[in-house]
Parts: sequence; structure tokens; C-alpha cells
Amino acid sequence: MAKIGIVGVGNIGGALAHSLLSEPNLQLYLYDVKISMAKGKAKDLRQAAVISGHGPTAVYAANDVKDLKECDVVVVIAGLARQPGMDRRALLHANAEIVSGVATALKGTEATVVVVTNPVDTMTYLMTRLLDLPFGRVVGMASVLDEGRFCSAIAKILNVDASSLTACVVGAHNDSMVPLISSIRWGGLPLSPDQVDRLVIGGVIEQTRRGGANIVQLLGSGSAYYGPAEAVKRMVLAITRDENRLVRCSVVLQGEYAGVTDLSCGTPVVLGCQGVKEIVEYPMSPEEFSLFQRSVDSLKDERALIQTYLDASIAMGPVEMVSGGVGNAKV
Ligand code: LAC
Repeated sequence: MAKIGIVGVGNIGGALAHSLLSEPNLQLYLYDVKISMAKGKAKDLRQAAVISGHGPTAVYAANDVKDLKECDVVVVIAGLARQPGMDRRALLHANAEIVSGVATALKGTEATVVVVTNPVDTMTYLMTRLLDLPFGRVVGMASVLDEGRFCSAIAKILNVDASSLTACVVGAHNDSMVPLISSIRWGGLPLSPDQVDRLVIGGVIEQTRRGGANIVQLLGSGSAYYGPAEAVKRMVLAITRDENRLVRCSVVLQGEYAGVTDLSCGTPVVLGCQGVKEIVEYPMSPEEFSLFQRSVDSLKDERALIQTYLDASIAMGPVEMVSGGVGNAKV
């Protein structure tokens, strides 16, 4: 029985918990700064499980993030969402403060931590540095979602079934992300030159990059949640089932791509129990590689901006190990 903690059960966290209800052998522990809301959602989800016949998934609400420390996977979604006209970077300071607080509460956990809070690459970096877990145990969700958007746009332009497509997006989860046209396969086949032309003329790259902003604009308040929730679910299942699945995630690089280090961004990885087991470098053309490098560069000043949160944690010294426990979670 795998224990999944979700920190932040607004739109994405709620949709994630609902989607995970249909999976056997999981227990869900919900935490939100609005504790009563988490309790309400836990109760609602338990009743939903009874009605759908998918029980006996156990869903509990926790009074404190510390109570999730014993989970196998903790998904961190807490933070502000974008509003129309905002880019993800506008959330940097507010969300860095929140992510630092969550990291302090989780310090000492042995969970695999999946970060969703935006700007996700830099929040993944911050969480990785603050938790100081073994390599691969902190991983950010972005490219799985971006690839869903990429494939959906490709399918529409080429008028083909999206589920027969695979495609890869690397780099930062921002407007500089790199959807790789060279990576697209249709039922395993590379595209014809004519299909590639149609994609370029149809604006597939821009549609993918603007996929999240477009939904923010249409919703009028808040950002996408069904797509992000399904992307996180895919990652959670890869971890709990030890799938060794090749997926694209944000992870702190270790010198891959001609020496990128100390910075988290989207790359193919092997995902299984305890997170990222291996980083797999995607072979790119020289043009794609320079776009990738530009995307990586866009993250460097974000990293500089969160340095204060890292310094604050060093100044605070080792965090006292308070024993939390899912046993403390309240229904
Ligand atoms: C999006 C958020 C999750 O792209 O970044 O919808």
C-alpha cells in the first residue's frame, strides 16, 4: 500500500486526488493551509470512492505538512496559480516562500517529492537544495504536461489520433521550452517533410509554449488543472509501481548537455521507485541544442533570485527532527 501525500489541494491537488481514487493499493493524505477545505475534500472523495465502487482507497486529511513525512511520495502543489496576463516567473517570490516552508516541514523525509508549484524548474531546484535528499528524490512535473499539449496540437494540425503520437519537450517550463519537432513519432514512424511543414506553418511550437497561458486566459481565474493532474498521476504511478518509465521531468542536472549543473530543467529521465534513476540526454540537432541552451539560461537568473531562501535555511541551521506521521492524519 503506497502512501501519497498531497500538499495543496486546490484545483490541481483535488483533481489529482480524484483521479488517483481509481488506483488500487493507494492511501491519500491531503494537506492544505485551509485545513477545513482539505478535510471536506477528503470526506467528499471517500464518499465518491464508495459510489464509484473503487474503494477501499483511504483518503485522509492532515493537520500539518509534517504528518506527510512518512509518505512514499509527496506531491507539492502549494502556492499561487497564475492569473491572466501573468507569466510563471511572477509567482517566484511568493511561491519560493511557500516551498521553503514546506521543505522545512518535510526535512528528514524519505519520500520521493514531486514538485508542481510554479515556476516549477526553480521550485524543484529550491526543494532539492533544501531537502538535501539522495539524487533523484526530488523531481518536477512539467514536460509530461507540455508533451500532452504538444501532441494535442500536432494531432489537430495533422488530423491524426493524438494517442498514436509521441513527442518530446525539453528545457524550462516557460515560454522558452523546446518542443522537439525532430522527436515526433506517429505510430513509431518519423514524420514526412510535408507533415513537418504543416506543423511549422500551423504554429505547433508556439501553441505548445502558450498552452498553459491560453487556458489561464480562457478560465479567467487560475490555471489549468485536469492536464497537470493527469501528468502528476502518470509520474506518481511510475514511482509507486517502479515502472522505470522514460519520461520527461525537471531534475537538477549533473553535468549533462555539455556541462549543465546546479539547475533543474526538463530532460528525459528513467522514473521508478525513489524517483529519477537516470538522466537520459536527448540527442538534438545543433539548432535545437542552441534553443535548449537559451532555455537553460532563462533559469539562471531565477536561481539567483531564490538564493536568499537558501541562505536563510543555512542560517537557520539543521531543522529539529519532529516526528510527524501519517498516523497523525485526521479524517
Ligand atoms: C501549466 C501549469 C501547471 O502549465 O504550469 O498549466
